[in-house]
Amino acid sequence: MDTRPLPLDSTSLDALAADGLRYALVDGADPQALAPWDTASARGFHDRRPDPESVDEHARHVAHRRITGVWDASIPSPEVPVATVASWVGELSVPGGTLDSWAISNVTVASTHHRRGIARALLQGELRTASAADIPMASLTVSEATIYGRFGFGAATRIADLTIEAKRAGWSPTAPADPAGRLVFVSSQQAYESCRDLVDRAGRATPGDFAIDDYHWGRHVGVFADRDKRSATLRIVRYDDAAGVPQGVVVYRLVSDATDFTKHTVEVDYLRSATDEAHAALWRYLLELDLVAAVHYEVASPDEPVLWMLRDQRAARVVTFDHHWLRILDVKAALEARSYGASDALNLGIDDALGIAGGTYRLEAGADGRAEVRATDAAPDLVMNVATLSALYLGSHRAATFASAGHITAATPGAITRLDALLRSTQTPFLSYWY
Ligand SMILES: CC(C)(COP(=O)(O)OP(=O)(O)OC[C@H]1O[C@@H](n2cnc3c(N)ncnc32)[C@H](O)[C@@H]1OP(=O)(O)O)[C@@H](O)C(=O)NCCC(=O)NCCS
Repeated sequence: MDTRPLPLDSTSLDALAADGLRYALVDGADPQALAPWDTASARGFHDRRPDPESVDEHARHVAHRRITGVWDASIPSPEVPVATVASWVGELSVPGGTLDSWAISNVTVASTHHRRGIARALLQGELRTASAADIPMASLTVSEATIYGRFGFGAATRIADLTIEAKRAGWSPTAPADPAGRLVFVSSQQAYESCRDLVDRAGRATPGDFAIDDYHWGRHVGVFADRDKRSATLRIVRYDDAAGVPQGVVVYRLVSDATDFTKHTVEVDYLRSATDEAHAALWRYLLELDLVAAVHYEVASPDEPVLWMLRDQRAARVVTFDHHWLRILDVKAALEARSYGASDALNLGIDDALGIAGGTYRLEAGADGRAEVRATDAAPDLVMNVATLSALYLGSHRAATFASAGHITAATPGAITRLDALLRSTQTPFLSYWY
C-alpha cells in the first residue's frame, strides 16, 4: 500500500499548530526537500551531518516511505524540521502467516524542543492514520524501552547479543558437519543481487521478522553511499546448496586486537539462512576462521541454534533484550492472521487508552489452528491492555509471566494457562535487523 497520499491526522495537526508548529509531509524522492529532514534525523540520533551523496542515495531508496516533519518558523534555521518520522507498510511474519504492518522509523525531536508533546502528536498521528487506512498493526524498533509502551506498543520479540570465544567453543562432534554445498566469497553487489531471495524466504518463515525493504537490504550488504568507508571492511560469504542455490549469507568485519594479531574479533553485521544446513555451515566457518579469538553478533535469535552446536556452550555469552515492538490496531484482523496451538475459545477484554483497539473480543480457535474473532458483550475471561496483547501476540512470551507481573487479570480460573496454550509458537519469534 502506498501511504504517501494519506492526509495528515487532523488532531495532531491542530495540537502542533496550537503550539506554533507546522506539521507536513516531505517528498522523499526529492533530495533538496529531503536534505534538511535528513539533517534533523541524523542530529536526533547524534549522528554526523549527512553529505549530499548520502542524501541522494537516501532519496533514491526511501521514495516509497511516508516522510513527515514538524517545523518551527521562529528558529534561525527554519528549513530544518524540529521533529521527524518515516513510515511505510510492509509484511510482518506471524505464526502461520503474514499481515501488513505500519512500520515507523526515524522518530526524532530536536533536543531544543523535546518534552513538550511533539513525539506524542507524531506517534498518535501515525497510529490514527494507520488505523483509518485499515492497517491492522504498527511496529518499530526502539532506542529506549521506555518510550513506546504509553502508545500501546509491547515488546513482542527479543534479540540476543552473542559473543563466542571461538577457540574455547569448538565445534561439537554431534553438530552438522560436511555440508553438501559450498561457501563462496561474494562482492557487495553480488550479495545484493543474489541473496535477497533467500533473505525473503528466511524472513517469511520466521514469526516476528519484517520484510526488509531495499534501503535496509542495500545498507546491510554495503552497496549504498559509503561515507564511513564501511564497505571496504566488509567480507561477505554466501552458502550455496548442492544444487547451487544460495541458502545463506553472512556479512562481517574483522576488528584487530591492539597487541595480538592472532586475536581478531569477527563482528557479524548480518547473518541470514534459509536452511539449517546453511546456518550451521556459516557459523562453523566464522568460528574456525584463522587469527580470530571471538565472534560477536548483536542481532541473534534469543534461541540461536549455534549454542547447541558448540562443544563448550559456556564459551558463549548471551545478553537478551527487547527488540521488535508491535502495536495492534485491529484486534480481529491481527488475531485472525495468525495460527493457534490449541482448539479453545476465550473472551479477551482489551483496554486501549487511545480508543483504537479497545473492547471485548471472543477468540475461537478451531482444530485447524485458525481462529475467528468477533466483538462480544459477554464478560471477559481475561483483561489486559493493548500493549500486553501486542507483546504476547507472536507467542514469544508466556502469558503466565505477564500475569505474575500484574499485566493480565484473569476472571475465569485457568484462563491464563489456556491463553498460553493458544498463543504458543512452534518457532521462536525473531526480527533479524533494526529498522
Ligand atoms: C524520544 C523522543 C522522540 C521523545 O520526544 P519528545 O517530543 O520529547 O516526547 P514527548 O514530549 O511527546 O513525550 C511524550 C511522553 O513520553 C515521555 N518520554 C519522552 N522521551 C522519553 C524517553 N527518552 N524516555 C522515557 N520517556 C520519555 C515523556 O515524558 C512523555 O511522558 P507522559 O506520557 O508521561 O507525558 C526524543 O527525545 C528524541 O528524539 N530522542 C532521541 C532520538 C530517539 O531516541 N528517538 C526514538 C527512536 S526509537
